[in-house]
Amino acid sequence: MLEHRFGMDEVVTKLNILRDEFTHLHDYNPIENVSSRLKSPESLVEKIARKGVDLADLASFDEVRDRVTDIAGVRVVCSFASDVYRVFDLLAQQQDVTIVEVRDYIKQPKPNGYRSLHALVEVPVFLSGGEVPVVVEVQFRTIAMDFWASLEHKIYYKYRRDIPTELLDGLHDAAETAYALDTTMERLHEEVRGLDDLPAELVDALQGGDGPDAALLSALRRIGDQPSASSSTVS
Ligand code: GTP
Ligand code: MG
Repeated sequence: MLEHRFGMDEVVTKLNILRDEFTHLHDYNPIENVSSRLKSPESLVEKIARKGVDLADLASFDEVRDRVTDIAGVRVVCSFASDVYRVFDLLAQQQDVTIVEVRDYIKQPKPNGYRSLHALVEVPVFLSGGEVPVVVEVQFRTIAMDFWASLEHKIYYKYRRDIPTELLDGLHDAAETAYALDTTMERLHEEVRGLDDLPAELVDALQGGDGPDAALLSALRRIGDQPSASSSTVS
């Protein structure tokens, strides 16, 4: 269990480094929040039983590890869906990170509406006796997906996994609404960021003096929106 905590801390540190770097060196931070939890021995035992395995049949802790891959869990909450993939890529491309498995429940949501990007990552932990590889489950999601999942989780437990149909339908609708919100927010964000791609002097000139020229600004925003348009096209 200690090894899993170390592995979890390694992954959290990696994500916090990225978050701090974005905060200090870039004008935008894709990471809203990073949290982690170690599975308690009780819920580990409960999960093994839920999988229909008798603990007494398992010869070693390695066999427990093979069955329960989320002993160490990290959750990364991002502002936008594109950030989810961006942060995942930034973690995945690190030399000492191995991606064991990816489940993309954003592209393919669960039947109940659940969305998140799940990755099992393996990181090395350096102990006195040498290097130990540790698997950590990382869940990447947007604020809206996180909001939905925490409510769904509460309802699931309140009804002891036997949720009334109307509530299930309501949750499914809410998941779609949350996704629509994600899409709209991302589009608006991109629109505003279009301005950032323009040369600073131009934006300053437009915003100084008699105030911004609204028509010109919005025309430039539209140009900034088009992926093929570069700042040189504008100047
Ligand atoms: P377990 O669900 O943990 O037994 O493992 P699995 O092999 O089915 O993995 P999966 O990727 O489906 O889910 C792993 C974790 O994601 C869960 O422990 C939850 O934290 C989260 N998760 C998955 N599905 C849901 C869901 O429908 N609602 C909520 N709130 N969380 C979910
Ligand atoms: Mg599951």
